[in-house]
Amino acid sequence: MSTPPAVATRPKPDNHVIIIFGITGDLARRKILPGLYHLAVAGLLPERYRVVGCGRPSSLMTDDEFRTYAFDAVTEFASDKPSGKEWADFAACLTFAIDPDEGQNGLSAVVGEAEKAIGGVVRRLFHLAIPPDAMHDVISLLGTKGLNKNARIICEKPFGTDLTSAQKLNAELDEYFDESQIFRIDHFLGKESIDNILALRFANELFEPLWRRTHVRYVQIDVPETLSIEGRGSFYEETGAFRDMVVTHLFQVLGILAMEQPTSLTAKPLRNEVNKVFESLRILDPVTVLRGQYNGYLDEAGVAPDSTTETFIALRAWVDNSRWMGVPFYLRTGKCLAESRQIITIGLREPVMEIFPDQKDGQHPDADRLIIDFKDPGSIHADFLVKQPGPEMTLGQARMNFYYRESFQEKNNLEAYERLLLEVMLGNQALFTRSDGIERLWEVAAPLLERPRPIETYDKGTWGPKSVADVVAPHHWTLPE
Ligand code: BG6
Repeated sequence: MSTPPAVATRPKPDNHVIIIFGITGDLARRKILPGLYHLAVAGLLPERYRVVGCGRPSSLMTDDEFRTYAFDAVTEFASDKPSGKEWADFAACLTFAIDPDEGQNGLSAVVGEAEKAIGGVVRRLFHLAIPPDAMHDVISLLGTKGLNKNARIICEKPFGTDLTSAQKLNAELDEYFDESQIFRIDHFLGKESIDNILALRFANELFEPLWRRTHVRYVQIDVPETLSIEGRGSFYEETGAFRDMVVTHLFQVLGILAMEQPTSLTAKPLRNEVNKVFESLRILDPVTVLRGQYNGYLDEAGVAPDSTTETFIALRAWVDNSRWMGVPFYLRTGKCLAESRQIITIGLREPVMEIFPDQKDGQHPDADRLIIDFKDPGSIHADFLVKQPGPEMTLGQARMNFYYRESFQEKNNLEAYERLLLEVMLGNQALFTRSDGIERLWEVAAPLLERPRPIETYDKGTWGPKSVADVVAPHHWTLPE
C-alpha cells in the first residue's frame, strides 16, 4: 500500500540566508513563514540557516517583534503549531531588515551579520513576495549592492501584468542574475496532485493511451473559491481573476495536463514540453471569455467605485496540436462562489457502436470521465458504465475512487510552498516557470487584456454569472456534481 517518501536520502540544501521581501504581506504570513517552520520541523532545512524578514521602514520591527509576528502567523496557518525546542530553535534564526538598505537595520548589514553567524560558504535566497511593479527596485537593489552573488531569487506570480512588463522584468533579472539563479514560482506546480499527473500519465499504461483527441471530448480545469478578496483590495484591483489565477495557475495546470512525455523529469526536458503546449495554445478570443464580478465587490476597501476588475472568469482554450486539436479546455475560477474546489475533469467520448438499448436513448450522458480533485490531500475518480445486476442488460453509472488520505500517510505531505522552497534551495528548476513560457502566455492573453468584455455580475455563494453555462455548451460543468 503506502510507501514512505525517500526524505532521508534527499540531499540536504547548502547553508542559507533566506530573505523574504513583503514580510508583512498576506503570502508571507499564510504560506512562507508557516512553510519554513514546517520544513524546519521536518528536518528539511539546511544544517545552518537564517531567515531575514524584509519590510519598509514604516513596518520596522525589532528581532523580538518579528519573532512574535512569525509565531502568530505560524500559530494561525501552520499544521505544526509552534512550541518547545523546535520553535525556540527556529525563532533564534529569525531577524528583521529594512528596505531601502540603510544603516544597521539595512539589508546588506543584516545579511552580512547572518552570514557571519552561519560561517563558511552561505547561499542567499531572496523571495520576492511582492506585487510585479514593486520588483524592479528590489532587483536593482540586489544587483547594485552585490547581493546577487551566490544567490537565487524567487519571483512571485503574476510575473508582470502583460507581455511588455514581463519582458521588461525578464530583462532586468537578466542584468544581474543568470537564468539558473531565477525561480519564477507558481505554487500550483508544487501541489502533490498536480505532480501526480506526471505519475498518472507516464508511470502507467492505463491512462496515457486515452489522453488525446481521439478519446477525449473536453477537459475542465475548475477552481471556484468561497474566499473573497480577503482585504487584498488594492492588489486585486490591479490584478483581477485572470491575472491572479488563469494566466498563472490554471494555464500551468493545463500545460502539465496537455504536455507530451518529457525525456526525463529534469528541468530542461520537462519545461521544454510544457512550453511547447504554450506555443500551441490558441490566442484567446475575448468573445469566448466570460468575466464576472460579485455583487458587493465595489464596496470592498481599496476598490474603485466604478471598478470593472473581474472576480470571476470562465473561458474556452484550445491547444492546436495533433494530440488536442478540436478538444475544448474549459477554465473557470472566481471569488465568493458556492464552494472551494480544485477539479480537473477529462470527459471521454462515447463508443462508436451503441449496442446497449439504454445507451441509444441517450440515458447516460457524460458517463465516462476521469476526475482529478487536486485540492490537498487530493483524490482521483473514474466514472464509467457497468451492467446492473439482474436479468436485463441495463447500464448503471459506477465510480472507482483513489484517495491520497486513505492510501498514504498524510503527515508526509509537503504543502506546495514547502515543496517549492525546498526545490529552490536544492537548485532544481523543474517545477518553476521559464521566461519564454511566461512571455508566450501573455501573448496568448493579449487580446483579452486589450479588449476585455463587459462585466456580468453574480451573487455571492452562487456559481458565477448566469451565462456561465454557455461557456461550456453543449457540455456541462462537472461542479456542482
Ligand atoms: C493565490 C491567489 O496565488 O492562489 C489567491 O493569489 C488564491 O487569490 C490562491 O486564493 C489559491 O491557492 P491555494 O493554495 O489556496 O489553492
